[in-house]
This record gives sequence, structure tokens and C-alpha cells, in this order.
Amino acid sequence: MELAFKLAQINLYKTAENPSVGCVVTDFNNKILSTGFTSESGRPHAEKNALLRVPINERKRIFITLEPCSHYGKTPPCVKNIKEKKVNEVYFSYYDKNPIVYKKGFNFLKKNKIRTSIEKTNFKDFYDKYNFALQHQTPYVSAKLAITKNLNTSVPDKKYFTNIKSLKFSHLLRYFNDSILIGKNTFLKDFPKLNCRIEGLNNFSPKIFVINKNLDFYLKHLSLYSKKIYIIHSCENFTKVKKLKKYFNLIKLKSRNKIICPNDILKCIFKLGLKRLLIEGGVKTLEIFQKQNLVNKFYFIKSQKNIKKSHQSAKFLINSAFNKNLNKYRVDINLDDNELFIN
Ligand SMILES: NC(=O)c1ccc[n+]([C@@H]2O[C@H](COP(=O)([O-])OP(=O)(O)OC[C@H]3O[C@@H](n4cnc5c(N)ncnc54)[C@H](OP(=O)(O)O)[C@@H]3O)[C@@H](O)[C@H]2O)c1
Repeated sequence: MELAFKLAQINLYKTAENPSVGCVVTDFNNKILSTGFTSESGRPHAEKNALLRVPINERKRIFITLEPCSHYGKTPPCVKNIKEKKVNEVYFSYYDKNPIVYKKGFNFLKKNKIRTSIEKTNFKDFYDKYNFALQHQTPYVSAKLAITKNLNTSVPDKKYFTNIKSLKFSHLLRYFNDSILIGKNTFLKDFPKLNCRIEGLNNFSPKIFVINKNLDFYLKHLSLYSKKIYIIHSCENFTKVKKLKKYFNLIKLKSRNKIICPNDILKCIFKLGLKRLLIEGGVKTLEIFQKQNLVNKFYFIKSQKNIKKSHQSAKFLINSAFNKNLNKYRVDINLDDNELFIN
């Protein structure tokens, strides 16, 4: 099973909306007959990849990190494949919390008299974000904020106050997440690209979401961003909406007291099949999500520089991350260390 989890790690974060699964097929002397893991973009599933090569007539066991699926989706059910390949014993580590799979794969195998049991492992949090998303029907939310020594978050006239280590780490975070969200001011001031610029991982950039209630833009935005980005708005100006529809995916949500309910935003992102959201700021956007306890994990990237002229303080966010016992989910990255320090 440990090997199955190692295999699942190979395509972790590359399997689109599907979880990354690993599996190992052995004979009854524990000799490995075949292995497999979820393909990039989510299919074929791990079981299908592993069972392609196994001899039908040999007695065999399969070890899978997650409960095998039992429904007809874009591919036929894995439990059917397991049955057809005459697997005698099935071990898996976690039930799949996806309601269309949960316990159904297990029940199918039992009904078909294939010995099936749960195998405990040390990989306890492997599917935590996936499970969280399915349980809450919202993505698991991480937030990243770079802060100066005196807790400011933006610098006049200067784009970056952090260093290359922090930038690289931000790109890695973008790869870990399948969606990214920013507020209107960051969009208007910074024109951020928000993609993952790590060689080899460029194709795994997150889907981009911008909260922009009244659909405010500069002409430059229209040429800089492709139709792929999503703008969340509550604009009633039909002409404006019609024009911008040509350039962006527009998602209209209701606003109350000038705020679009952050939970509605999360639900909407989840419905697009996305399960891990990174909020990259700015402070105002993060505060709106944090006030409603919607941030699961904070990454504060600390610079040792003091920046005087700035109105953007992260004091509230940091205090509330402490006060709400987010401590155990807080990750501080100190830019003065030689190595990134993540606890
Ligand atoms: N240090 C860092 O890591 C970091 C990261 C990102 C950005 N920044 C810097 O931060 C500055 C911008 O930050 P900011 O705090 O001023 O603004 P921001 O968070 O980028 O945008 C805030 C605006 O977005 C809209 N918005 C956000 N959530 C909303 C919701 N739920 N419903 C409706 N509207 C919502 C509101 O716009 P309206 O109400 O006006 O429509 C709000 O005023 C920039 O200078 C940028 O460079 C720093």
C-alpha cells in the first residue's frame, strides 16, 4: 500500500478534477505483477492502467489508495474491470467521499464475492483537501500573502519586496491548486499573470477568478487575459455585460451590502469541478473570506524589510489567523532563512 501511495504522488495535482490514485497488483506470494496510477488529466484511472498488463488466470490481489469507482462516467467503472480481470482480493485505504462513489465500490465488490478490506496507512492526510471539498461542496481554500517586517502588504512604486525564493514558492503554490482568486484592486493595479511559471509544470496553471462587482477594466486587460479567465460580478449594466462577455467568462452572483457572499463564490468555483483554491490577495479580499472562516490554510511570506508608506496592513489577518486557532494551519516562510521553512 505504501508503494501505491508513492505511485499516487507521481501525478498529484495533475489529474484535473479526479483524485490522484495509485495501485499495485501482486500475486499471492506478494510478487508485484503490475502497478498503475491515475493518468494526467484524470483518466484512465489507476486501476485500469495497472490491470492492463495482468495475467487473467493467476490468483491476485490489488492494493488501491482509494475506493475504486462503481459508476459509468467518462470511463466504465473500475470495479467492473477488477471483476473481469478476476482479481481475488481488493485492499483500499480510504473510501471515496464523492457521493457517486462512496461505499458503492465497496458494496459492488462484496456483492460479487470479491474479498475486500480497508488497509490502514501512514498517508493520513493524502486525500484531506479532496475530502474537504466533497464534504463541503466548496474548494479547500489556501491563502498566500507576502508581508513586510512591519506587516504591510504593498509597496509604492515597487513591484516586489520579497525575493526570488518567495516568487518560486508562489509558483509552486499555483501548481498545487487548481484555481486562483484575486480581488478587483489587485487586478486593476498589478495586471498579474497568475500562471505557474515552473519549467515542466506550465500546463498545470490554475483557473483564474477575479472578483469585480461592477466589471471595471482597462483596455489593457482585454488584450492581456484570455477568454479563459472568470470574472465574478453583480453588474446590472446589460451593455457592459454584453461587451465583456466576448472577452471573459462572466459569472453573475447577487451582492448584498456591496459584498458578494464569499461562500456563494466558493460554491460556484466547486461546481466547475475545482477543489483547491488559492487566494492571492489582496488584503481586502482575504479579510472578507477570513471573517467568514473560509480560509483553511494561510501562507505568510515574511520579508525583513520595513516599508513605511503603505495603507495596506495585514495586522487584522494575522491576528485573526492567530485568534481563530489557525495556528496549526499557518505556514510562515521567513525570507532571511537560507532555506524555505515550512512547518
Ligand atoms: N503582499 C501580497 O502578497 C499582495 C497580494 C496581492 C495584492 N497585493 C497588493 O494589494 C493591493 C490591492 O489589495 P486591496 O486589499 O486593496 O484590494 P483587493 O483585495 O485586490 O481587492 C479588493 C476589492 O475587490 C472587491 N471584492 C473583493 N471581495 C469581494 C466580495 N466578496 N464581494 C464584492 N467585492 C469584492 C472589492 O471591490 P469593489 O468593492 O471596489 O468593487 C474590494 O474593494 C495592490 O497594491 C496589490 O499590489 C499584495
